Amino acid sequence: MTSQNKKTHFGFKEVNEKDKAQMVRGVFSSVASKYDVMNDVMSFGIHRIWKNSMMDWLSPQPNQKLLDVAGGTGDISFRFLKRAPTAHATVFDMTQSMLDEGQLRSEAEKIENHLDWVCGDAMCLPFKDNSFDVYTISFGIRNVTHPEKALSEAFRVLRPGGRLMVLEFSQIPNPSMQWAYDKYSFNIIPPMGKIIANDSESYQYLVESIRKFPNQEKFLEMVSNAGFSNAKYRNLTMGVACLHSGWKI
Ligand SMILES: C[S@@+](CC[C@H](N)C(=O)[O-])C[C@H]1O[C@@H](n2cnc3c(N)ncnc32)[C@H](O)[C@@H]1O
Repeated sequence: MTSQNKKTHFGFKEVNEKDKAQMVRGVFSSVASKYDVMNDVMSFGIHRIWKNSMMDWLSPQPNQKLLDVAGGTGDISFRFLKRAPTAHATVFDMTQSMLDEGQLRSEAEKIENHLDWVCGDAMCLPFKDNSFDVYTISFGIRNVTHPEKALSEAFRVLRPGGRLMVLEFSQIPNPSMQWAYDKYSFNIIPPMGKIIANDSESYQYLVESIRKFPNQEKFLEMVSNAGFSNAKYRNLTMGVACLHSGWKI
């Protein structure tokens, strides 16, 4: 099979690898203006608790340089800057309309001087080696065509002593809870997407993509394989989401 015809998944569909990034961009361009409200509604606000847990574990420090990849509308960067107001955050995302929404929010919160907004692909970062103290990716890496390439780019741009933290949906070890969660995800979230964002297909993709993502242990191995030391994870809400942490030593 030539590299042009290599296949990958887009939710439960099989697609050409070369088309996936454009399809993912289509999803987030479509939902950008309703992204934040949909997050609150479909998670009952719990995504805020998960993002705050990420900050608790990261413990942002003064003057740190954060690269927030797949940063979307800036939720992670905003939280980081709230805890370390002298830090600097670069929100990096491949969907310009998500960044545009975030920029509007940053102006409203008057923190725009501590932020950069850069459009591009996590698999090919336009930054020098060893240039950030912290790399975060929240609910982004499962959308990347080759997550291992994103992790190796994370390792490259972090300085020695720098930290990676990934927040992502994961797998619930308890089968009856997984059953209930599947019922909710597949039956409620896409129709909710239709009502709020006028787009059920994008939310169908989002719930399918969660099921395709590696479980906690497999992803931990990927983090270690990318070169990170002391790789660990913490389940959130019994494994509905998970934080993975690693250090570039
Ligand atoms: C679910 S949103 C997460 C936004 C934000 N980090 C949050 O936690 O609310 C996923 C984001 O990942 C971005 N994304 C997906 N694949 C990407 C890639 N290969 N490179 C950069 N950004 C990507 C999308 O454009 C989208 O804004």
